[in-house]
Amino acid sequence: MMDERRPLIAGNWKMYKTVAEALATTQKLIEQIPVTVTVDVMIAPPYTALASVAGILVNSPVALGAQNLHWEKEGAFTGEISASMLVSAGCRYVIIGHSERRQFFQETDGNVNRKLVAALNAGLIPVVCVGESETQREAGQTFEVIEQQITVALQDLEASSLSPLVIAYEPVWAIGTGKTATPEQAQEVHARLRELIAQKKSKTLAKQTRILYGGSVKPDNIAELMRKPDVDGALVGGASLDAAMFARIVNYTL
Ligand code: PGA
Repeated sequence: MMDERRPLIAGNWKMYKTVAEALATTQKLIEQIPVTVTVDVMIAPPYTALASVAGILVNSPVALGAQNLHWEKEGAFTGEISASMLVSAGCRYVIIGHSERRQFFQETDGNVNRKLVAALNAGLIPVVCVGESETQREAGQTFEVIEQQITVALQDLEASSLSPLVIAYEPVWAIGTGKTATPEQAQEVHARLRELIAQKKSKTLAKQTRILYGGSVKPDNIAELMRKPDVDGALVGGASLDAAMFARIVNYTL
């Protein structure tokens, strides 16, 4: 872990929790995270709970994120939410291009790029997700796939505008399956992603970009992942729904 990259532990709640459930989980979570915590912490509840959760996160070490956004500022886009709406609800972060968005909602690398631009323009910290499927890994295409995803996601963006960028490497075969990538597999892809950012944008950006690992992260595997030099945090799905379990991940010790 390099000094200039403060770890980020992020919880993606997906389509779970009513407003009342979200508030209860958040309350329990902040009770279990010391204000002196040395990592950045973010939770991404569903849209409907954002504004209420924001209220109890004030003065806590936990920041609020959304799971998606639309790239336009406003307009006739029924069912969509813009970056400025997220900011007004109290969000600091937004997850972009999660594999479930790609798989079930036909999100493309091109969409990810437009969403990234919108997030940056609104001052949100974007968490851009990339990752290969099981078939692609077995066919030896992992590097090719992540290169394509990252190249299109970041296209036409200057290194200087990308300084808040966070990347999440989430191998699709590890999401919700209990099948975590080994720390070595994660490190290999993270190092490759950093190299690609250095080549395509700048070395400075590559050095400062936080690259999270996601896919079945649990309290008992977080430390071994965090020990890898290019793993700068985690994007946690299932295990973030339980306050005690997520707090144990946030409070990991090396
Ligand atoms: P998981 O999900 O931790 O349940 O595997 C990770 C994610 O989808 O971000």
